[in-house]
Amino acid sequence: MLSNNTDSANQAQENDVIKHCPYRLGFHIIPSSGWINDPNGLVFHGGLYHAFFQYHPYSSVWGPMHWGHVTSEDMVHWQRQPVALAPGDEGTCFSGSAVSDNGELHLFYTGHHWTKQENDWQNFKQTQCLATSVDGVSFEKKGIVIADSPLPHIQDFRDPKVWKEGGKWHLILGAQDNGTGQVLYYQGQTPEQWEYRGVLVEADESEGYMWECPDLFKLGSKHILAASPQGLPKHGYHNLSEYQCGYFVGEFDGQSFSHSVFTEFDVGHDFYACQTFETPDGRRVMQAWMGLPATLMETQDSGWAGALSLPRELTLDEQQRVIQKPIKELTGLRQAELLSVQNSEIEAGRHPLDVQGELLEIELSFCLQERTAERFGILLRCGENQEQTMIGYDAMAERIYLDRNLSGHVQGVRSTEHDGSDHVDLHIYLDRSCVEIFSDTAYQTITSRIYPEENSSKVNIFSENGKVTLKSLNIWQLKDIWHP
Ligand code: FRU
Repeated sequence: MLSNNTDSANQAQENDVIKHCPYRLGFHIIPSSGWINDPNGLVFHGGLYHAFFQYHPYSSVWGPMHWGHVTSEDMVHWQRQPVALAPGDEGTCFSGSAVSDNGELHLFYTGHHWTKQENDWQNFKQTQCLATSVDGVSFEKKGIVIADSPLPHIQDFRDPKVWKEGGKWHLILGAQDNGTGQVLYYQGQTPEQWEYRGVLVEADESEGYMWECPDLFKLGSKHILAASPQGLPKHGYHNLSEYQCGYFVGEFDGQSFSHSVFTEFDVGHDFYACQTFETPDGRRVMQAWMGLPATLMETQDSGWAGALSLPRELTLDEQQRVIQKPIKELTGLRQAELLSVQNSEIEAGRHPLDVQGELLEIELSFCLQERTAERFGILLRCGENQEQTMIGYDAMAERIYLDRNLSGHVQGVRSTEHDGSDHVDLHIYLDRSCVEIFSDTAYQTITSRIYPEENSSKVNIFSENGKVTLKSLNIWQLKDIWHP
């Protein structure tokens, strides 16, 4: 049952350091202290949504991995739960997934062992492990269920994603065979006994040396293989982060997956290691780590780092692209509506709005007919010192963009293709030190961290070198779920 390891991790977790940090997030899953990375074990079990995550309770840098745990009735208001898994004989507890079956919650995860010395990425051993729970809070470790990779030289062998279908258990995991990314496939009659069924997909030369956190699921009439490949070459607007997180659309015939080209889910600076699950009403919902291994995290000095993205509902459009929308439950975060504007002509220049805030939801729609402006959009977290986070549309490039060059401590512009329609829609969530940008007129999202001064909280609208019609603008104050 619960080990002492878990008890001391829980004590570390009780130390709520984030409340003093100006960059704390108000409505995202964050640790109360310590480090988090990948979402793990997203699942509905026992009448609640559960989100687990890679967690190092003892410091704000990556370290011996535990599984942190939060639960929710609506995927919006989260409650902290005791640490679910702490390191043990199997090693530290790397990423994995959850299946609720017959009243029992099964967690599948990778046990990670350094074979020579800690943090020596040349010498380690990974196994796949199981833990179960009936109450969904305390977990009993059942031990290793897949002890060895199919070939002895394969060390990178991790992140099991498990589902039950057709009376059988199915498991895929990410692997690297001599510099080639792979997804391996297993089947089981029970969650303890697994049979290797072969390589489900292998990367070609341009598709990376390792695929972390694979996920396979049905969406519309297709199967989607989501993965976080490492080693993709940068080109044009593509693959600009150190590692990517995206998907292939294809067919899964029960043996192999025919795979198409890779498309990034999100083109922001901080989106990686996504995982999906199916809600009881049949929606496919995805969350990701709002971070990447080597990105700057200004919160580390305040004793915490890392967050999960908002849950996003996935659908497939007619061109077989995966579309992400914020789940409908997120409207439950809305407090006062701060502003509502219809049909307003925006002249060249920047125009202060009568709104301030650090936790905001913003919906805007611009009409492109009769537009003369070259670029237009909204500026968030504006301050005295020229600070601003710019989100807009570049009419020359025909792209929706985020410019965080003046956002504080971080730089960079990221953008995604507009769909060519006669309007530009933006749906933005601002949560102190992050922005998530959705659009009905683009196929990808943009998720990035920002680190402005605490008092930079003004909002402006802007139009450059011409004018544009703002069809509608609505801004809501959102709730801080951790410190109401
Ligand atoms: C992805 C990842 C996984 C691994 C985990 C360790 O970010 O590297 O492949 O299981 O993080 O924390």
